[in-house]
Amino acid sequence: MDLKRVALVTGGAGALGRGIGTRLQKDGYRIVLADINASACEIAAKELGGDAFSVQMDVTSAASVNSAVALVLERWGRIDVLVNNAGVLVKEDHCEMDETTFDRIVQINLKGPFLVTKAVIPAMKAQGQGRLIAITSRNSLAGGMPAYGASKSGLDALTVSWARELGTWNITANAVAPSSIAVTPGLDILNRTPEQQQASNRLAISRTPIQRLATREDIAGAVAYFASEEAGFVTGETLYVAGGSQLAPVGRYASDQN
Ligand SMILES: NC(=O)c1ccc[n+]([C@@H]2O[C@H](COP(=O)([O-])OP(=O)(O)OC[C@H]3O[C@@H](n4cnc5c(N)ncnc54)[C@H](O)[C@@H]3O)[C@@H](O)[C@H]2O)c1
Repeated sequence: MDLKRVALVTGGAGALGRGIGTRLQKDGYRIVLADINASACEIAAKELGGDAFSVQMDVTSAASVNSAVALVLERWGRIDVLVNNAGVLVKEDHCEMDETTFDRIVQINLKGPFLVTKAVIPAMKAQGQGRLIAITSRNSLAGGMPAYGASKSGLDALTVSWARELGTWNITANAVAPSSIAVTPGLDILNRTPEQQQASNRLAISRTPIQRLATREDIAGAVAYFASEEAGFVTGETLYVAGGSQLAPVGRYASDQN
């Protein structure tokens, strides 16, 4: 059997998913990018090159998740690392948000990782090892964007439960919680003009002890650590990769942050 390790990254067509794929590929993993946006995901996998490939996956649909995971297992026979990275962000206060928006955020950000992890666990158990890594957010601590924060806190909590339940099979579960990342992903969702984005970035930097935004490499580095051999005894953690912004007071209103 081919023992090269395999990493499956959901939301793989997005800004951070591509960054994580790039880093894990450098670390020697076979990369599978999974995304609801099949064409963008295919382009992202081609850009990575080598044996990287893409699968279409809607993380909110058990049927879609199960068939995508089956495809990966058919191709490589194993999944060593799952990065639950697919996520959406909607900038609305509680009183503005309608039920449909709330449900959509929770379906993608929280139910999605539940379904994908459930689909991957049997292979990890059979291998006697695995790494579950969730991308959550510093936002769960800071507040603002309540549905988003609640979905990410829920994912931190799922991570702790996975750590307790799956340690017996040598499967670790950890979360990486970024602050705002210095690219402009999610701009469409946030519906911001470039000027508004710059103002939001300035505000985020002013609240960050290390005076800059996160880079994709900062976040991918933390993912690579949790995936590594050295992290084999680390489980149930949420690592804030946030320049210290998780420590800083954010004032009354934090909807400009994520
Ligand atoms: N960008 C930031 O500043 C920031 C900060 C903290 C946390 N995060 C988290 O990082 C993760 C990646 O975000 P990003 O910045 O790369 O955003 P992005 O919008 O660039 O990428 C998100 C990807 O998820 C995919 N996706 C959406 N719905 C899906 C579904 N139902 N099934 C499968 N894929 C789906 C999208 O097609 C997209 O490719 C998210 O979980 C986000 O919450 C981002």
